[in-house]
Order: sequence, then C-alpha cells, then structure tokens
Amino acid sequence: MRLAGKTALITGAARGIGLEFACAYIAEGARVALADVNASALQAAAEALGPQALPLVMDVTRQDSIDAGFARAVQAMGRLDILVNNAALFSAAPLAEITRADYERLFAVNVAGTLFCMQAAARVMIPQGAGTIINMASQAGRRGEGLVAVYCATKAAVISLTQSAGLNLIAHGINVNAIAPGVVDGDHWDGVDAFFAKYEGKPLGQKKQEVGAAVPFGRMGTAADLTGMAIFLATDEAKYIVAQCFGVDGGNWMA
Ligand SMILES: NC(=O)c1ccc[n+]([C@@H]2O[C@H](COP(=O)([O-])OP(=O)(O)OC[C@H]3O[C@@H](n4cnc5c(N)ncnc54)[C@H](O)[C@@H]3O)[C@@H](O)[C@H]2O)c1
Repeated sequence: MRLAGKTALITGAARGIGLEFACAYIAEGARVALADVNASALQAAAEALGPQALPLVMDVTRQDSIDAGFARAVQAMGRLDILVNNAALFSAAPLAEITRADYERLFAVNVAGTLFCMQAAARVMIPQGAGTIINMASQAGRRGEGLVAVYCATKAAVISLTQSAGLNLIAHGINVNAIAPGVVDGDHWDGVDAFFAKYEGKPLGQKKQEVGAAVPFGRMGTAADLTGMAIFLATDEAKYIVAQCFGVDGGNWMA
C-alpha cells in the first residue's frame, strides 16, 4: 500500500497503459480519477476498477474540459497528489505527406494537453505544497524516425516540458518527471503496426514481430512492465528526483 491515502488523476486512462496505471495505483491504496475522451470505454474501465475509480469525461485539448475535470476530481477526492499525463495520439507518414491538420491534432493532445494539465494540477498542488506529476514521454522523443516526425517531435516536447516544469515546480514541493517507454503491446501498437503496414508494405502484424524481436530484453513491453516506475515516482522515496526522463524499455533505446 505504497500510495495509501493518495489521490491521482490519470489522463487517457480508459485503456492501455493509463488503465494499467490506474489499476496499479488503486492496488497500492490510492483513489484515482480516470480522465478520457472516450466516454464508453471510460465507463467500462471505471466499473471494472470499482469504487476507488472516478470516471471523468475530459478532453485534454479543451481548456473548459480540463478546468471542469480537475475541479470535479478535487471536489470528489478532496485533494490531488498525483497527475499522470498519459493521453496521446500517434500518426505516421513520410515527410512529404504530413498534413497540417494531423500535426495540429497531435500537438494539441500530446503537447498542449500535457502542458495545460500540468498547469491545472500545479494550481491545485502549489497551495498543498506537495505533489507529483508524471508525463508519458517515449523513446520516440529521444531520436527521430523517418516515418514518425510529428509524434517524435511531440514526445521530444514532452521531455522538454518535463525539464522546465520540473525546475519551476520543485520550489513548491512538486516533483515532475517523465517515463519513456519503448514498444508496448496493446491497442496503441496495433495502430502503429497498421501505419507501418501501409507505408512499408508489410502484412499486418509483421512490424510488431520485428520490433519485439529487436528489443534487447527479448520481447515487446507490456503496460504492467511500466507500473513499477509509475508507482515509485509517486512515492515519497522519489522526492529528490527532479525533471528527469526514465527509459523503461527493455534496453530498446540504448540498442
Ligand atoms: N504503446 C506504446 O508502445 C508506447 C510507447 C511509448 C510511449 N507511449 C506513450 O504512453 C502513453 C499511453 O500509451 P497507450 O499505448 O496506452 O495508448 P492508447 O492509445 O492505448 O491510449 C491512449 C488513451 O488516450 C485517450 N485520449 C486520446 N485523446 C485524448 C484527449 N484529447 N483527451 C483525453 N484522452 C484522450 C484515448 O481515448 C485512449 O484511451 C501515451 O502517451 C503514449 O504516447 C506508448
């Protein structure tokens, strides 16, 4: 029960890594607001997690939605100890085919969503004098990829925002850090696989097999592989860790 009595808000928590984090936080004693734009998946997720889960329909691209979501979370849970900025979109295309609409869509969720949810959390946590913010970055934020320019750029921006926010907010007792996964199996990577099938002419599923085989650990990651870091960063043992980005990727980025 390393998070006993703590409260958390996790964006993009209706499925995948965010849902796994919500489940792990609840198992460690926390109450968790699950914020997601997908109302039906959110409802099913919250019902499965039980009374410690608070479903919040929230769109991280809209300021009114962020403001209302954080207000409801604080009203229902009394305070906010942990924010996990996890909601994100992925897309891939050769540079000559990137559209401005796609660029704006990804930056709105992955970058502006992260920034303005950090701001909303900071406004609650500064008066508390304590808090933890964890941003989901990616190995994609640490180097370019030929077909993935926009997503990589958004995740590089998440790492940069983590550094600036970390330096700014530690004066208020708020720790801001990031996790950079490698390749994590699930719905998200099924979508990534479909993009590569289209642009590299591969059968569906082949890219997934290739990237899994290339991970030094020997397989793709699972959402459960990431929960240890997500719990640790939210505990008081991590209080001296400021503005860092931790790879949890089976050695993938190093390789
Ligand atoms: N899966 C991977 O291989 C991988 C690798 C590196 C980093 N990551 C990062 O980890 C995080 C979670 O990834 P995942 O695999 O669980 O993704 P996912 O696509 O399964 O889940 C993302 C969730 O975000 C929600 N979302 C999308 N737009 C939103 C919005 N505007 N407002 C609120 N919610 C919104 C979706 O409805 C969905 O439930 C993301 O930040 C992703 O970039 C994933």
